[in-house]
Amino acid sequence: MNSFVDFAAIATAFGGGGGTVYLVGAGPGDPDLLTVRAARLLREADVIVHDHLVGPDVLAVAGARARRIYVGKERSRHTLQQGDINALLVQLAREHACVVRLKGGDPFVFGRGGEELQALAAAGVPFEVVPGITAACGVAAYAGIPLTHRDYAHACTFVAGHLKDGSCDLDWAALARANQTVVIYMGLAGLAHICAALMAHGLPPDHPAAVVEQGTLLDQRVVAATLATLPAQVDAAGLQSPCLTIVGEVVRLRGQLAWFEPRALASAMACPAAAEGS
Ligand SMILES: C[S@@+](CC[C@H](N)C(=O)[O-])C[C@H]1O[C@@H](n2cnc3c(N)ncnc32)[C@H](O)[C@@H]1O
Repeated sequence: MNSFVDFAAIATAFGGGGGTVYLVGAGPGDPDLLTVRAARLLREADVIVHDHLVGPDVLAVAGARARRIYVGKERSRHTLQQGDINALLVQLAREHACVVRLKGGDPFVFGRGGEELQALAAAGVPFEVVPGITAACGVAAYAGIPLTHRDYAHACTFVAGHLKDGSCDLDWAALARANQTVVIYMGLAGLAHICAALMAHGLPPDHPAAVVEQGTLLDQRVVAATLATLPAQVDAAGLQSPCLTIVGEVVRLRGQLAWFEPRALASAMACPAAAEGS
C-alpha cells in the first residue's frame, strides 16, 4: 500500500477549520488508572480512535454519543497502516471539535504518538498530549515489583523486545550491567533469545526475571523465575500478549510485596459479604 499522504492537501480540502486532536494515554488496563484529564476528555469526545490495548472497561468511561473507531495494530493483524491512521486523524479533526486518539499506556512510550503528532503538525491540526501510566510503571506496581530500590537497582531501562523490522538487536552489554532493572515491552515472542543474550553478556542464570500478562487487570498472571528458567515456565503457563518482562534483583521483592490478587479480588467482588468475613 502506498503510504504517502498529502496532509496539506487534506487540510485544504476540509477547509482548514475544525477541532483539536487529544493524544491520550489510557494507562495499562485498569480503568481506575486513567488520569482525571483522560476521563474528562473521554466523556467530552465526539469521536474516539483507539488501539487494541484499550479495553472495554476504559471505553465504558466515554460518553454514549462518542463515535468509536478501532484502528488496532496487533502483531500480525493491522486494521489500518500507520499512514492511514495519520490521515484519518487529520480528516476527523476537520469534522469534529474533540477527537480523542486513545492509546494504551503512555502515548510517547513505544506508542508511535510522536509519529502521529508529526502528521498533525504537518497538516496544521491543533493537538494536545495527555500522558498515561506506562505499562512498566502500572504493571510493575500491580505485580509487587518496585522498579528501583536503593539496595538493588539504581537505574531502570525500558526497551522494545522487537524492532520495526521484527528483529531484536539491543545493546546487550549495557542491559546486562549490575544494579539496574530492565523492562522489556513486546518481548514475549523473543523471550528465549532475550534471556540467552543477557546471560551470554554476563548476567548469571539465576538472575531474577518475571513476565506479567494482562497486568493491572483481573486476569493478570505473573510468572517469576530466573533467566535460565523463565522461557520454559512462561511456555508452560501459556502466557499470551500483552506481556511485560521485568529483569532484575527487584523481582525477588515480589515474594514480600505482591498485593494484587486478581482472582481473590474477583470472587470478593462477586460476594462482598464473604470478603468482609461476615
Ligand atoms: C506497543 S507497546 C505500547 C506501550 C504503551 N504505549 C505503554 O506506554 O505502556 C505494547 C506493549 O506494552 C506492554 N503492555 C501494555 N499493557 C500491558 C499490560 N496490561 N500487561 C502487560 N504488558 C502490557 C506489552 O509488552 C505490549 O506488547
